[in-house]
Amino acid sequence: MASKRCIVTGGCGFIGSALVRRLCREGRDVLVVDKLTYAGVKESLKEVDGLYDLLVADICDQSRMDRAFAEFRPDTVFHLAAESHVDRSIDGPGEFVRTNVVGTATLLQSALAWWRKNPAFVFQHISTDEVYGSLGAEGFFTEATPYSPHSPYSASKAASDHLVRAWHDTYGLPVRITNCSNNYGPYHFPEKLIPLVILNCLDGKPLPVYGKGANVRDWLYVEDHVSALCLVNEKGADGETYNVGGHNERTNLEVVQAICATLDELRPRAAGPYSDLITYVADRPGHDLRYAIDPSKLMDTLGWRPAESFDTGIRKTVRWYLDNDWWWRPIREQRYAGGRLGAKV
Ligand code: NAD
Ligand code: TYD
Repeated sequence: MASKRCIVTGGCGFIGSALVRRLCREGRDVLVVDKLTYAGVKESLKEVDGLYDLLVADICDQSRMDRAFAEFRPDTVFHLAAESHVDRSIDGPGEFVRTNVVGTATLLQSALAWWRKNPAFVFQHISTDEVYGSLGAEGFFTEATPYSPHSPYSASKAASDHLVRAWHDTYGLPVRITNCSNNYGPYHFPEKLIPLVILNCLDGKPLPVYGKGANVRDWLYVEDHVSALCLVNEKGADGETYNVGGHNERTNLEVVQAICATLDELRPRAAGPYSDLITYVADRPGHDLRYAIDPSKLMDTLGWRPAESFDTGIRKTVRWYLDNDWWWRPIREQRYAGGRLGAKV
């Protein structure tokens, strides 16, 4: 059964806000718990203003989390609050350990106390395929792939996944875990590859490609991730893990070229094709070569299907950034202008 009362941690972030927009449209009662870090953007929820409550709080704050559960009385917590950017985790791993590891343990404790009084409650943990480490040219991550994280970000997410399983196995807390591939789409903070490249194109700035641009990511449109999260919430089994991905592998160079080609068509540049702006820069330290998801479990047991291919999703995304500078311009001007992160170790 679909949960009626949902807490969404990190609901002002990229994926969390897409989930909140959907839950609100479906008429659920939503409490967003968000610290509003540099990545938390309240304006991402403008479309559903008045349809959700916001608690500006840190998930590491045990008493505030206890109170949030007791007062809101959730059926589910969708836990998305995290530090999410690999390059920032290279520059400053401490905050990643604090929020992703300590914060998850704190939230689990509050959830456990709440579940003991409300046995229908479910803790749903949102995680990444990066916990599995890096693939060579062949093969896919399955739910049975051993964990082998390399960056401080992926190591902190791996730790959080282990904590969630430990609370299930030790205390019996009902949990579900999803490990999803790289997301993209509207309201994506412009530190990540796809929005950074779109906005640098529009500003006529260099498009920084790490190394030779040969690293491969498996891209999923954010609303397809959200549909998977809702399905797992409604129909997923207790204690189970589901990998989420839509078989859209691309090298980074292919991604950048696809954005350039789309913009050449939609917003041609007088100075020549956007691909003239491609600039190869020093590689990311410890750069994982390839991620690719085998989503068979989610597709076969729950019937999930993504609605977008990479080609349709990237077009929608480029269009959205062209039409919504009200959202990204203040972020580029006041929060993050697009400078290189995570290059020095
Ligand atoms: P994001 O960085 O856009 O948003 C994170 C949100 O969490 C922000 O609103 C921020 O203010 C909030 N937050 C950070 N620290 C907090 C704290 N201590 N207390 C309360 N709120 C806090 O991240 P995203 O890309 O939307 O990712 C959401 C989740 O999905 C993360 O757990 C991430 O690991 C996971 N994930 C992301 C991707 C991806 O491609 N972006 C893929 C798979 C999984
Ligand atoms: P990113 O969007 O940071 O996601 P993740 O590191 O979680 O996969 O990066 C996606 C890929 O793009 C990754 O292989 C690093 C690369 N990249 C660039 O080549 N240039 C950039 O400016 C950025 C931010 C990333």
